[in-house]
Amino acid sequence: MILAPSLLSADFAHLGEELARIERGGAGLVHADVMDGHFVPNLTMGPAIVQAVRRSTRLPVDVHLMVENADSYVDAFIDAGASWVSVHAEVVLHLHRTVGHVRKRGARPGVVLNPATPLSILEEILPDLDYVLLMSVNPGFGGQSFIPATLDKIRRLREQIRVRGLATQIEVDGGVDASNVRALVEAGADVLVAGSAVFGRGDAEEATRQLIQAAS
Ligand code: DX5
Ligand code: ZN
Repeated sequence: MILAPSLLSADFAHLGEELARIERGGAGLVHADVMDGHFVPNLTMGPAIVQAVRRSTRLPVDVHLMVENADSYVDAFIDAGASWVSVHAEVVLHLHRTVGHVRKRGARPGVVLNPATPLSILEEILPDLDYVLLMSVNPGFGGQSFIPATLDKIRRLREQIRVRGLATQIEVDGGVDASNVRALVEAGADVLVAGSAVFGRGDAEEATRQLIQAAS
């Protein structure tokens, strides 16, 4: 299991120190939540922040684009150093083209599904993806409660990936904490995003370590 702390709940005035803490704690990826105030009712960070993060850590940066016109921004985030780039199936009209473009640019492409978006939307695109990001909250804010139905959705996706003989990873995002990490891994999650459970409790290094331990 890879733990991907979400910067959304980090102390933005001390990002470098926050990154060092999660690195020491054993995080495998840094999750950057990009919000545009249209697809979700919140505004967060642009490529400049991702570039600063990229320069301050050895961890790969996982950019989660919660924006309406993702195609206009994919290149800017890859140029800024994103290694993983995911776009929402609900807003990208030509998923095949976007995913192919991310791969051609040398980043790992992923597709994100909101809690109410069915897995069936992935049927044709699944073989082209390095990962699927399943939202376990409605996107927009950190600190929301995990939606329990996500567990069954993870199991069903895991089974589809197995039956089709694919190597697609499953990432889960929203309300992840010590009480559910074990169940998420057992259901078939490979990458767990955690924001408030890592940065909301004082010691991000220890919180990172504890979440990884609780998952095993
Ligand atoms: C929600 C974001 C998440 C969020 C997770 O829209 O995509 O990555 O930061 O935060 P927690 O772990 O606090 O639910
Ligand atoms: Zn996210």
